[in-house]
Amino acid sequence: MRRIKTTHLLFSLVLFSLICNSICASNDAKSNSISFILNCGAENNGQKDADGRKWDSDTKYLSSAADDSISAKAEIQDPSLPSTVPYMSARIFTNESSYVFKVSPKHRHYIRLHFYPSDYSSLNSSDAYFAVIANGITVLKNFSASITAKALSQAYILREFSLPVSTDGKIKITFSPSPLYKGSYAFINGIEVIPSPDLFSSAIMVGFSDMVGYSDQSIDLGIAPLQTMFRLNVGGSFIPPTNDSGGLSRTWFDDSPYVFGAGVGITGEADKNVSIHYSKETREYVAPLDVYSTSRTMGPDGKVNQNYNLTWVFQVDANFTYVVRLHFCELSMTKINQRSFEIFINNQTADDAADVIVWAGSKGVPVYKDFAVYVQDTKVEDEELWVALRPAVQLKPEFYDAILNGMEIFKMNGTKGDLAGPNPELSDMMVKAEAEPERSFAPSSSSNQKANVIGGAAGGAAAVVVAAVCIAIYQRKKRDIGVERSTSTSGWLPLYGNSHTSSTTKSTISGKSCTSSHISSLAVSLCRHFSFAEIKKATKNFDESQIIGVGGFGKVYKGVIDGGTTKVAIKRANPSSEQGIHEFQTEIEMLSKLRHRHLVSLIGYCEEDDEMILVYDHMAHGTLREHLYKGNKTILSWKQRLEICIGAARGLHYLHTGAKYTIIHRDVKTTNILLDEHWVAKVSDFGLSKTGPNLNQTHVSTVVKGSFGYLDPEYFRRQQLTEKSDVYSFGVVLFEVLCARPALNPTLAKEQVSLADWALHCQKKGILEDIIDPHLKGKINPECLKKFADAAEKCLSDQGIDRPSMGDVLWNLEFALQLQENPDGVAYSDEKETHKPSQTDMGIQETNLNDGTEENSSVVFSQLIHPQGR
Ligand SMILES: *[C@@H]1O[C@H](CO)[C@@H](O)[C@H](O)[C@H]1NC(C)=O
Ligand SMILES: *[C@@H]1O[C@H](CO)[C@@H](O)[C@H](O)[C@H]1NC(C)=O
Ligand SMILES: *[C@@H]1O[C@H](CO)[C@@H](O)[C@H](O)[C@H]1NC(C)=O
Repeated sequence: MRRIKTTHLLFSLVLFSLICNSICASNDAKSNSISFILNCGAENNGQKDADGRKWDSDTKYLSSAADDSISAKAEIQDPSLPSTVPYMSARIFTNESSYVFKVSPKHRHYIRLHFYPSDYSSLNSSDAYFAVIANGITVLKNFSASITAKALSQAYILREFSLPVSTDGKIKITFSPSPLYKGSYAFINGIEVIPSPDLFSSAIMVGFSDMVGYSDQSIDLGIAPLQTMFRLNVGGSFIPPTNDSGGLSRTWFDDSPYVFGAGVGITGEADKNVSIHYSKETREYVAPLDVYSTSRTMGPDGKVNQNYNLTWVFQVDANFTYVVRLHFCELSMTKINQRSFEIFINNQTADDAADVIVWAGSKGVPVYKDFAVYVQDTKVEDEELWVALRPAVQLKPEFYDAILNGMEIFKMNGTKGDLAGPNPELSDMMVKAEAEPERSFAPSSSSNQKANVIGGAAGGAAAVVVAAVCIAIYQRKKRDIGVERSTSTSGWLPLYGNSHTSSTTKSTISGKSCTSSHISSLAVSLCRHFSFAEIKKATKNFDESQIIGVGGFGKVYKGVIDGGTTKVAIKRANPSSEQGIHEFQTEIEMLSKLRHRHLVSLIGYCEEDDEMILVYDHMAHGTLREHLYKGNKTILSWKQRLEICIGAARGLHYLHTGAKYTIIHRDVKTTNILLDEHWVAKVSDFGLSKTGPNLNQTHVSTVVKGSFGYLDPEYFRRQQLTEKSDVYSFGVVLFEVLCARPALNPTLAKEQVSLADWALHCQKKGILEDIIDPHLKGKINPECLKKFADAAEKCLSDQGIDRPSMGDVLWNLEFALQLQENPDGVAYSDEKETHKPSQTDMGIQETNLNDGTEENSSVVFSQLIHPQGR
């Protein structure tokens, strides 16, 4: 950082010991000012959360006006809550009330507010509408934690703000129930007040550089209140609060869900011999080592890099200024103009000659750059913030490449001097799902009960809430650093209806009554509608003899339509399955828009008299699983199996990168890979799918769904979903294909129950051959087996970041097929290797080879091997 930061001088003193010994940093910071970590509504001090952090009771900090506040326990514990502390207890306010904290007048403070919208005593979570004002700044306004959580499908909401120095040494946080709704109340589960070093000085305003006289417009951040919107460890993995630097307990998320399109670059980690040294400008508390030691670059091929932008996309609220902090640390280049690049923010040039060595002075030294951009309301699209990097070709750098190690996006106070955005609006789909269980919009009796408790006429409020929700459309809003989604609420699929498809859905949904169809007009126009009579005829009135499968959703029948000319598979939802409604809608929305040789095609649907029926292409050969074991079907040859795996990998690769947005399947398994009459593999069952990066979170967080035995352990631990969760499941499928046994077989010895564990164990011991399908013994070329098993093993890496992309898996499977078919074709492997020479030269340990050319290189590869093409 070349800018002069006077405030840093002050902090050089305050945090003097930090310079001497970074290990003591957090303690020293704290000795100057105290952190408050409060479990609101709890009686006892020192209760520990799942990470071992201690939370104290909040009573000491309540101002006297809060005497009539209530401490309450949540009625239901959502299984996706990370910890009972602080979420299971709450402080409830029916009148404006405040907390007051005595703090150091020298520090900025992070304020973190934790909300778990649940029913407390007899209070209904949907009646809580309130404002939160922190030192005079409205940070939340007319806030409904319940609606926000539903829209994000999270169990809890975490909001983080950074407040400027408070000269009177006090931080006052006021909770104020909304006057707009009678009977509304405010609540809070946890509050953190954490002193922080001065992390903000000024930012370069983007968009003025093109105007004469405005070339160096910068804005002062020193006194600005900020809200954290996104905090990403670019090219790296999730960093929990306990591993943050400077004792600031920030959470850093994986950036991959935000990377736009197929050009995702490659991720890399610093070599062991690259040591990272913080500098006077960028101290350890700015970001932890993990952030700087991992990066995303464009890839080794300069020609490819010239033709794409490495881009991240975020959804934000309009009419606010955002501060985009980019963290850099060069891990391989040492000289100026080896890797110069351009930075664009929302199509405007933020820097046209970015060079980390120029900024930092040398390799291994972290730097960060702050840019500010105003995001206007275009009224057409939902507001987005784009950050794009591309090589600065005009500078003729040695390598056409770009690098980024971390990114934070903060919202600055808007025109009204506050930070509060609107509540998210729920999609028609979700509204219907919400309304479904009650089938009536009259205030429920439980909300009347609650009315008595809080001394107001809450029935009216409930009606207002329902009405508001009813006419609302979902606009995708609030990104949040919170996690987890709720299982108790039915809305787990803010799928279409958010962002990019919403221009279609919006116009058709807006103002609609809650009972009208919830399938978007686009989907309707893309697939056929069947009458119930037609379906009955096709299935011989749902004759039992026509059943070809039974799943969680309901029964699957074979049938014929169009006068017996077309064979179809008809999936009839079990009307009592509430989950089915969502899966039904999701599947129609997804499948009607996706067409691919390796995805099952949806022909149409029937929605009549509470019936939910989907009509698909008939898959003559059924599921992959029944051809592996448990079925007296033809035994597939190894080549057939490889071709099926390749087909399925292509289908998944398309879902991940081919559509405009990443689609995560979430339930990859051998029963969801179907085979047509030509044994072409088709991926099916999108009922659980979710779109990736356009969800307004750093990752797609979600209740753990999917099938045991195939579940990504990382997803299970953190409930963060990325496309690498599909890669893990696909790795299990590969071993299942090789070993012809189920992913889970509880009848086996303990160490063998889970195929993933057992196969990995055998692979590591070099005894994999002992467990492969006896039908395949001696029929697999050893080189081919090695390639296949290596690919499967990598898919099962514990950490998503270590797993290959689906494009890589595809390439390896193609290669394995070549080794099987033409064992002398090994030379081609070097071909591929020489395409990617510079990775090691550049000192980057490659972990993810998806540089957007994978599809091409695999196509090229297959053409090389099969000159006749495929
Ligand atoms: C942004 O500001 C404009 C002009 O004041 C206003 O019309 C618009 O509704 C605002 N948009 C949002 C999302 O607040
Ligand atoms: C990269 O981004 C810049 C700025 O938004 C744009 O002008 C350019 O067309 C983009 N390049 C590609 C290949 O998309
Ligand atoms: C935002 O807050 C800063 C500091 O409190 C203040 O100086 C500035 O005027 C505010 N901006 C707006 C638009 O109110």
